[in-house]
Amino acid sequence: SAIKIAVLIGSLRKESLNHKLAKALERLAPHEFSFEHVRIDNLPFYNQDFDSDYPPVCRQLKEQIKSADALLFVTPEYNRSVPGVLKNAIDIASRPYGASAFAGKAGAVAGISVGATGTALAQQHLRNILAYLDVPLMGQPEVFVKYSDGLIDQDGNIGVESTKKFLQEFVDRYVDWVRRHVHT
Ligand code: FNR
Repeated sequence: SAIKIAVLIGSLRKESLNHKLAKALERLAPHEFSFEHVRIDNLPFYNQDFDSDYPPVCRQLKEQIKSADALLFVTPEYNRSVPGVLKNAIDIASRPYGASAFAGKAGAVAGISVGATGTALAQQHLRNILAYLDVPLMGQPEVFVKYSDGLIDQDGNIGVESTKKFLQEFVDRYVDWVRRHVHT
């Protein structure tokens, strides 16, 4: 049956490599998997005052995540960590205390960078955050992609065969991981 994935991308820029990587991963998944990009560029900075009266746009974010069966995080690394925009969205969706949108939803993380570490350190921080938020995260394979010219185009076509094979392995494992965790 149909499985809905909420995709959280840690970059807001138009030409985002991580947006392209997300597209590429989506194209490698079976048809019963649908992917919805979660909007995070319209959110206010999280403020604990929200907890007593959550802003509508923050409620919408939580509803969109709650309505999904599972999660996919695709993020750049900023200064060896998670970009602030993504952390802000996670903080918003995790609150008020006890009413997180994430609890129990299976997920995976991936990322692409221009640097040789391929977002490894950002993903390690993200794993720490998501462990606390009770997201069962797939451990392997780790997707630390270093960008090179022609690797992925706008539509998510992958130009390098070995990369395509590796990303297909990741998606196949992710599909199994999600199916194991979704109770339908
Ligand atoms: C970066 N970049 C970067 N790359 C990396 O491998 N490790 C890092 O710690 C950082 N730090 C960093 C900080 C800031 C503020 C910026 C703007 C950039 C470079 C980064 O990999 C590159 O800009 C990617 O293209 C960003 O991803 P998107 O926006 O293309 O998805």
